Amino acid sequence: MKHILYPLIVICIISSCSQPQKKLQKKRTTKSAITVMRSNDCFGCHSIEDYTGVPSYRMIAERYENDYQTISDLTEKVLQGGGGKWGNAQMIKHPLLKPKDARNIVKWVLSLDADSVTSALKPQNTTVYEDTLHPYIIDIFENDQKIFSGSMDEINLAGNEHIKPNHRIIIRGTISVTQRGKHFFYLRKSGTGKMNKGGSMVISDRPDDNEIMLELDPGKYPFEIEYTAKSDSDTLSLFWLPEGKDYYEVMR
Ligand code: HEC
Repeated sequence: MKHILYPLIVICIISSCSQPQKKLQKKRTTKSAITVMRSNDCFGCHSIEDYTGVPSYRMIAERYENDYQTISDLTEKVLQGGGGKWGNAQMIKHPLLKPKDARNIVKWVLSLDADSVTSALKPQNTTVYEDTLHPYIIDIFENDQKIFSGSMDEINLAGNEHIKPNHRIIIRGTISVTQRGKHFFYLRKSGTGKMNKGGSMVISDRPDDNEIMLELDPGKYPFEIEYTAKSDSDTLSLFWLPEGKDYYEVMR
């Protein structure tokens, strides 16, 4: 029995020694496009949804076909830099970016107007409960008078019965971050809305300000959204793209 067990133990030791290296290698090859972008300067100039003087990645996706030629041309542009397509500003060149990574990034950018991505961003009519057992607390005011208090499972309101012109809506909740890194928040609003995190404003009520990238450590972060609707059919949704994810999803 002994001489059968011994080689088995040796094999186990060898395989467990080589495993961490194997894992590392795997991680390197499966780094997603947006992970590479997060550690590069791409989000220093561009945002995913907001025009910031340079096109947002969604604007780029909407302008171009997602075909082989476009992927090659845009990959070249990201690597070499340049301007002339969106105005006078120039994109700097990215000589340190691997062509393979640049290509994957361009594919991710062009995927942003794919049905699967845009339909996930479609506002929905979330149920608002009268009780407060659900994670997001919603208070509604009319002329500074609180007229409703309730809760909901996700922040995704469209044409909800509580959305009425000049109703001021305050939503409070907590962001639970499990992975350190760059997390994106997208407050999709057709009325006037802003977002505070821990008491400081991260998204203002300007109509062109909908998105923020925050570098966060694991933990819980209280936030508050203040929103005033303009019409019955107004929408208000909060999406986030946490570290480790590729696309926006509704905050749940
Ligand atoms: C210094 C600011 C800046 C940085 C950093 C930057 N860009 Fe750009 N980017 C621009 C500008 C300005 C344009 C518009 C260029 C034009 O008008 O042709 C642009 C355009 C683009 C386009 C569209 C090109 C076209 O021809 O339509 C893509 C794709 C793009 N950027 C991706 C990236 C990626 C990926 C990164 C990170 C590796 C990045 N950008 C970093 C400023 C920047």
